[in-house]
Amino acid sequence: MNTPAPTPATSSTAHPVWQGAGQRIYLQEVGTRDGLQAECTFVPTQDKIDLVNALSATGLAKIEVTAFVSPQAIPALRDAEQVLREIARRPGVVYSALVPNQRGAERAIEAQADELNLVMSASETHNLANLRMTRAQSFAALCGVVRLAQQQGTATNVSLSCAFGCPMEGDVPEATVLDWVQRFVDLGVHGITLCDTTGMAYPTQVVDLTRAFKARWPGSEMTLHFHNTRGMGLANVLAGIDAGADRFDASLGGIGGCPYAPGATGNVCSEEIAHALALMGYDTGLDLNALIAVSSRLPGLIGHDTPSQITKAGQRLDLHPVPADFEALRTRALARDSAG
Ligand code: COA
Ligand code: ZN
Repeated sequence: MNTPAPTPATSSTAHPVWQGAGQRIYLQEVGTRDGLQAECTFVPTQDKIDLVNALSATGLAKIEVTAFVSPQAIPALRDAEQVLREIARRPGVVYSALVPNQRGAERAIEAQADELNLVMSASETHNLANLRMTRAQSFAALCGVVRLAQQQGTATNVSLSCAFGCPMEGDVPEATVLDWVQRFVDLGVHGITLCDTTGMAYPTQVVDLTRAFKARWPGSEMTLHFHNTRGMGLANVLAGIDAGADRFDASLGGIGGCPYAPGATGNVCSEEIAHALALMGYDTGLDLNALIAVSSRLPGLIGHDTPSQITKAGQRLDLHPVPADFEALRTRALARDSAG
């Protein structure tokens, strides 16, 4: 179905909080990393490459292509080198890769990642479960990674997992999160992503943390990364925009999740977020029809349906045919008037 891009309703563009009106919001695709890492099926390397190439043509600002982690930890991404080397790079798109340690950084630089997305958790328990290191050990390793990236002229972003809560520890104090952000900002990383690894974030918390971040580091690039585990994903994105965020990770089809975080489920769905933001008048730079077309390929690749509502329901104005007996219904209804 080739639907015209959603036209924003005039009333919503006048909303005092969500200004819409062409404001640029950057969506960063994480489906080929956060998405595929959670799948039991190994998606063949050429299919991954084709997927990234198709995504590159949809107007995305950034694509997290893969992860240079231990192939024992995440077998689904054991072909990281080949995927990153063989994709067709489109000018203007940043091709990022997740990196947990020095070994991962060396591999990602060798494969010419545009950006290293360094990962550690704000929660000690989740960091140990996911990366087998204490937070202090992770930070020490990542200091070396940042130095290496700086020598090589490769950009760095830090994804701080469990920034809105840990499935094993519970609440992670805002001060703890901001303290880790400060340490990475001091190292000179160019961006920070606050990750809601298991969908524990809720809108007012998102507003508080986003405002605190923006007040303290107004010049830093900040991304919000939500999972829709408890159905609050889109609400959290809108809360983030309300508080000044303009970059969001999202996953094609809404797939994804960290295998080392109990109860993790899919990311917010790229095409759902793009659809909602377009209706509200935001400029995501995305070709929504193209994105939906790529998403509809996913079930064939991963062997099961995805959480995406848009690929099932269609866009808001994808209209259905009127009933076949429409004229008969109308004639009968109007006959009631003349029957008086
Ligand atoms: N890429 C490839 N291999 C790696 C690697 C990397 N980034 N880091 C370590 N290894 C290899 C080592 O070379 C070593 O191999 P060997 O047994 O053949 O000598 C082996 O893995 C163990 O190395 P070690 O440093 O002891 O790692 P570990 O077993 O303590 O695991 C991590 C630490 C970080 C590598 C691992 O936990 C990991 O990759 N986690 C990522 C999890 C993830 O991606 N979660 C979802 C995203 S948030
Ligand atoms: Zn995630």
